[in-house]
Amino acid sequence: LELSSIYAPFQDDLARVEDRLKAVSRVDFAHLSELLEYSLRSSGKRIRPVLTIICGKFYKHNADHLLAMATAVEIMHTATLVHDDAIDKSYVRRGRPTINALWSDEKAVLLGDYLFAEAGAMTASTDNLRAIKLFAETLKTISRGEINQAYNAFNLKQSREMYFQRVAQKTAALFSMATESGAAMSQAPEESIQILVKYGYDLGIAFQIVDDILDFIGTEEELGKPAGSDLNQGTITLPSMLLLEKYPRDNPIKKLQGSKDRQKEIQRATEMVRNSSVIQECYQVASDYCAKARRDLKKLPDRPGRQSLLDLTEFVTIRKK
Ligand code: IPE
Ligand code: IPE
Ligand code: MG
Ligand code: MG
Repeated sequence: LELSSIYAPFQDDLARVEDRLKAVSRVDFAHLSELLEYSLRSSGKRIRPVLTIICGKFYKHNADHLLAMATAVEIMHTATLVHDDAIDKSYVRRGRPTINALWSDEKAVLLGDYLFAEAGAMTASTDNLRAIKLFAETLKTISRGEINQAYNAFNLKQSREMYFQRVAQKTAALFSMATESGAAMSQAPEESIQILVKYGYDLGIAFQIVDDILDFIGTEEELGKPAGSDLNQGTITLPSMLLLEKYPRDNPIKKLQGSKDRQKEIQRATEMVRNSSVIQECYQVASDYCAKARRDLKKLPDRPGRQSLLDLTEFVTIRKK
């Protein structure tokens, strides 16, 4: 189950999104142009714009507006990554040095701002008030999730509810914006839009749980971004929570903060996670969300895009990057 085969029926639309992304970097200021070109270059999975396209094509739609919306969603995602890497002091993303690594934190902050504004302007170009409101609300929600995460760094007394709330805010909100905004560019009945919103939300939660798993079991080479970075930031994700529950006494995660050798504690924690049932249990939670996402879809008409959305729920749990 390759992403390329899931995307195949939408290849033309995606190519036009790539064209639009390239067009964004054509500004009459060489330095900005270079930053835009570098950050928007096609090397991400493009899963969010694909969702927008698939959901928009379920019903009669305006193709120009749908492509603008899909492009806006990917630009918004890019902005969150550019800021996230500066916040996390991360030096590699999509197998390449980050903006903050090649340029500076300051450039990353400013470029992220520019990208958010570009995404907003492109959303507004659809003249769709629902999408414009959704853009603003989603950006608030993501920021809220990231601020919540920052305030809870190294907080070992977090409940699962807090984790799921954060994941919903920082990741699922953008996934469900991708599906809802796509559907909103079409004549989908409200009932169908709500099904797609739920689907995007559940898929997004599963996607972030798997991202959190991969941070423990993947390598930088596979992921194209650093492994072990969550514990390095003090971000307590589901695998860490389960490990803390299993080994409440001698647990390296409890020694992270203030440790003279944080890397050693991270390595120990990573080994313990890998050698326990934690990974399997986390995958089970992610699979449960995917199953829920599939159930939601059953209520939609059986159009070509439906199979692609079903396939994406499978892809999310087997992905290696
Ligand atoms: C990374 O998203 C950020 C998360 C929400 C985990 P992706 O894994 O979709 O990143 P790209 O766009 O493919 O690089
Ligand atoms: C990303 O979550 C969510 C954003 C809003 C950017 P992560 O912090 O897990 O993303 P990666 O692992 O750096 O891609
Ligand atoms: Mg990060
Ligand atoms: Mg991550």
